[in-house]
Amino acid sequence: MSAIIIDGVEISKKVREDIAAQVIELKEKGVTPGLAVILVGDNQASKTYVGSKEKACQQLGMHSVLITMPESVTQEELLAKIKELNEDNSIHGILVQLPLPKHIDENAVIETISPSKDVDGFHPVNIGKMLAGQDTFYPCTPYGVMVMLEHIGCDPAGKHAVVVGRSNIVGKPAGQLLLNKNATVTYCHSRTENMAKYTKDADILVVAVGKRNVITSEHVKPGAVVIDVGMNRDDQGKLCGDVAFDEVKEIASYITPVPKGVGPMTITMLMFNTIKAARTIHSL
Ligand code: GUN
Repeated sequence: MSAIIIDGVEISKKVREDIAAQVIELKEKGVTPGLAVILVGDNQASKTYVGSKEKACQQLGMHSVLITMPESVTQEELLAKIKELNEDNSIHGILVQLPLPKHIDENAVIETISPSKDVDGFHPVNIGKMLAGQDTFYPCTPYGVMVMLEHIGCDPAGKHAVVVGRSNIVGKPAGQLLLNKNATVTYCHSRTENMAKYTKDADILVVAVGKRNVITSEHVKPGAVVIDVGMNRDDQGKLCGDVAFDEVKEIASYITPVPKGVGPMTITMLMFNTIKAARTIHSL
């Protein structure tokens, strides 16, 4: 039996309907949720992501500001801009698109964003709150994964969740959010020996490596839920994930495609976090 394909576009649409209703409600109360995105330099992928974020804001009736800075911007100038946005009452969420040029200290940038406007959930205060199981801004991609699991009725409690990848943006927080929902969590990464030993036992398998075909049918237990966070190009230049989709879909119970899987959820959760920031800042 072939797996059910989890439709990220469809789930995203449902969540966005709820967000759009919340925007209307907040506007009636005199608050237009606002997101500021800072883009440094000329990275084409970053430009594309940032464009999608702006478009989503506009579609939902939110206020959005895009600040572009040249590759040569100094750290001091970038931090000054963030501090200005921290004080700007029309802005509830601040996102600095990563990666940043090498001469800029990413941690210094993240730590300058007010935790109350950190819609990426990257600030150490928000990471700490997530670790402690408190309500806060959760990083958008793993948060989107959790919403997808909820949507298909997959409760992680008591399940073995295996996360492949340990980035600060996806892998680490994905494991933490699964743990917060009472999963038993295993992390696999580039130094893991005999990865299949772990992945083959996974009830929920989240793959966020950034490399094609790291997960094949040999790595997957029959009936597993497989979430592919990868975003790569195949030899024909077509978008593909980290999972060998065609063979794994014959084994899994549910699987996310690439594109139209986790991708659309990331931006949706960013919008969700921005609404949450606006509500919290204005006590609404
Ligand atoms: N670069 C790739 N993913 C992300 C993300 O989720 N947030 C930010 N700020 N930059 C990214």
